[in-house]
Formats: sequence, structure tokens, C-alpha cells
Amino acid sequence: MPENNLNETEKKLIHTARSILLISVLLVVCCIILLSTFLWNDQQKNELTLQMDQTAIEKNGSVVPAAKNAADQGWQAPDESTIPTGEAGEKIRYGKELIVNTAKYFGPNGSIAVISNGMNCQNCHLQAGTKMFANNYAVFFTSYPKKSNRSGQVVPASNRIAECFERSLAGKAPDASGKEVQAMLTYLKWVGSEVKKGEKVFGTAFERIKYMDRPADPQRGKILYAAKCVSCHGKHGEGVLSVDRKTYTYPPLWGDHSYNDAAGMYRLINFAGFVKNNMPLGATYKDPQLSDEESWDLAAFVNSQPRRHKDQKEDYPDLTKKPVDAPYGPYSDQFTEIQHKYGPFKPIAEIINSINNK
Ligand code: HEC
Ligand code: HEC
Repeated sequence: MPENNLNETEKKLIHTARSILLISVLLVVCCIILLSTFLWNDQQKNELTLQMDQTAIEKNGSVVPAAKNAADQGWQAPDESTIPTGEAGEKIRYGKELIVNTAKYFGPNGSIAVISNGMNCQNCHLQAGTKMFANNYAVFFTSYPKKSNRSGQVVPASNRIAECFERSLAGKAPDASGKEVQAMLTYLKWVGSEVKKGEKVFGTAFERIKYMDRPADPQRGKILYAAKCVSCHGKHGEGVLSVDRKTYTYPPLWGDHSYNDAAGMYRLINFAGFVKNNMPLGATYKDPQLSDEESWDLAAFVNSQPRRHKDQKEDYPDLTKKPVDAPYGPYSDQFTEIQHKYGPFKPIAEIINSINNK
């Protein structure tokens, strides 16, 4: 049927139908555009939140927020920004300064007194006693006063500071009531202020690494020392003094300026646990660089080198409370002094535990 034969009404109908079709197509296109913009926006938002999370992780440094569970993160010291202003805050800050730069005040060139070997408390209590499994002070303050197995008496917290001066710093303790010890105690209290008395905290002291079935071997340790430690601690364990010669950039591991043979570090379990998660410098519990076995052998090597001697006859009046790795007799068991020093510790621990559990 030719077009000019269509009547007017038919023409109008076709025209309207065409218009409706066009509008519908336009509407569908619009809908698609709108929908995709919404979806795209949403994705963008998600990406942004992800990015923000990432920055939070980086700001927190070594902390791994992905694992929010407390056991994995371990204890964290209060934030420095919570130290109050004014006199109270000053005391905390001074205490921290004394822990970080002990030798400046009490070392061989000390400005207050010459009573120590030149080490800083921080050399062994890393990051001023706040690092996980680096001998931190998390549970220290709340647990005092307590009975010391070493002296057999109930002692105040200041005793523990004195002991580290006399053993780890191979020197003399400053006056317990003096400004310095009091400031240190104030700092230690602040560090542990979020820990409740008796609370179990993950990451304190050292990691107790697995005992070996053989004695730790100084000869193997010597080879490891030459490969992994000598660059900082020196061929003779003498360490490296800082430019002003007041403190050590790299602290000594043996000799006259190191801890004496009554110190905690002279016990193999402490030493091995410490180096496993902290040495060579930069190692952490999450990123250790030594195996358990290497840590034991390094401990055996370093602790068979010469250092100052302190008489320890009065230590541990109750011999059953003496640690298995106490390097000097007498003991409550029949194991030799050599085995108590280098292990294997398992057979000794079994005997001591059975006595103490009776
Ligand atoms: C050579 C390493 C070394 C140095 C330096 C050192 N300490 Fe210690 N400190 C240790 C070890 C190891 C222990 C744990 C000892 C043990 O259990 O027998 C310890 C334990 C302590 C404790 C008890 C912690 C607790 O939770 O029970 C305090 C407090 C302490 N030291 C304070 C100090 C102060 C203050 C200084 C500086 C004046 C200092 N230490 C220097 C190695 C050291
Ligand atoms: C890159 C340098 C470096 C290397 C390598 C290194 N250390 Fe250390 N070490 C240090 C520093 C620095 C400290 C003190 C940390 C502080 O004061 O914050 C220290 C502290 C120590 C301490 C406690 C303080 C003392 O003098 O008794 C021991 C023990 C120790 N290191 C053992 C080792 C052993 C074992 C090795 C080899 C596996 C090793 N270190 C490798 C730099 C190093």
C-alpha cells in the first residue's frame, strides 16, 4: 500500500509510535549511565577506605593491625603523649632519660657519679623497656614488693634497680632514696601503669626458647659470632664507644665494661631468649634472624669469655629456687656446674620441678 494512500490518522499513529520508541531507548540509556556511575562511586569509596587503613598501619610502624587479637600483638607501653605536663611528667621523663643514657650520668665519665661499667639500662631493656620480648618493664612495677628468690627476702622495687647496677652494670647502686632512683621508679611505674597486678601479659621478659638435647656449644657460637655479631660488638667483645666516649654505640659483650658473672645475661636461658628476638640489631619477635640452636650456641660462646666476677655465695638461700641455668654452685641436685651452665637443661628442670611440685 503506497504511503500517500494512508489516511491522516494512520500517519499520526506511526509518528507517535516512533516517538515513544525513541524516548524509551533514551530512558534505558540514561538508566544505564546513572546505575554505572553509582556503582563506580561505591567502588571508589571502598578503595579509599582501604587506602586509609593502609596509612593507619604505616603510621603505627612495626605494629600489625591486621591481627587485632591481643595475644598476637602483645603488650604495648602507654603512648608518650600521655605523660602529664608539669612536675610529675618531668620526673617520668627524667627517669626515662636515665634508663636510656645511663652512662652519661653514672658511667666512667658520668656527670653524677662514676659507679658503672658504661652500659645503659636500655642496652638490654630495649626501647627504654617497652619492646616485646626484649626484657621490657610491663609487669615489673605491679609485682612489687615481692619475695626475691635470689635474696630470699621480700624486697621493694628499688632493689631490682640496685641489682642491675651491681650485676648488669658491674658497679655500685646509687642511693635508693635519691632523686635518680626515684625518677627511674616513677618511669617504671608509668610504663606498667596499664597493667593490673597479677595480669598475664604476652611478650614480657624474654621468650623461653625450646631446650636443646645437647649442651650449648661455644665453638659453634664462635663461628656464628664472627659471621653475625663481630661487626658491631667487636673482635674482643669490646663494643664501640660513641663519639663523645660517654656511652656505647654498640655495647660490649664481655671484658671489664660488660655485665659481670652474677648478671641475668650471664645465664644462658636469658641470653639465648634475648638474642633470638633482638639480635643482630633490628630483629624482632615477629621477624627473628637467629634459630633457637644458633641463639643457644652464641650464648655459650659469649658467656664463656672473660668478665668481672662477683661473689654470689649469698644468692638463693633456698637452693631449690635456684634457676636451672645458674652457673655457680652449690645446687640442690647432683648435676655438674658445667651442665648447669651449658645444658642440656631438660633433665635438670625435670628434677627441680618434681621437687617443687611435691
Ligand atoms: C646487661 C644487660 C642489662 C642491663 C645493662 C640492665 N639490665 Fe635490668 N635486667 C637484665 C636482665 C637479664 C633481667 C632479668 C633478670 C633475671 O630474671 O634474673 C633484668 C631485670 C631487670 C628488672 C626487673 C624486671 C621485671 O620485670 O622483673 C628491672 C626493673 C631492671 N632490670 C632494671 C634495670 C635498670 C634500671 C638498669 C640500668 C641501671 C638495668 N636494668 C640494666 C639485664 C640488664
Ligand atoms: C648492627 C649492629 C649489631 C649487630 C650486628 C649485633 N648487635 Fe647486639 N646490640 C647492638 C646494639 C646497638 C645494642 C644495644 C641496643 C640499644 O641500646 O638499644 C646491642 C645489644 C646487645 C646485647 C645486650 C647488651 C650487651 O651488651 O650485653 C647483646 C647480648 C647482644 N647485643 C648480642 C648480640 C649478638 C649475639 C649478636 C650476633 C648475633 C649481635 N648482638 C649483633 C648492635 C648490634
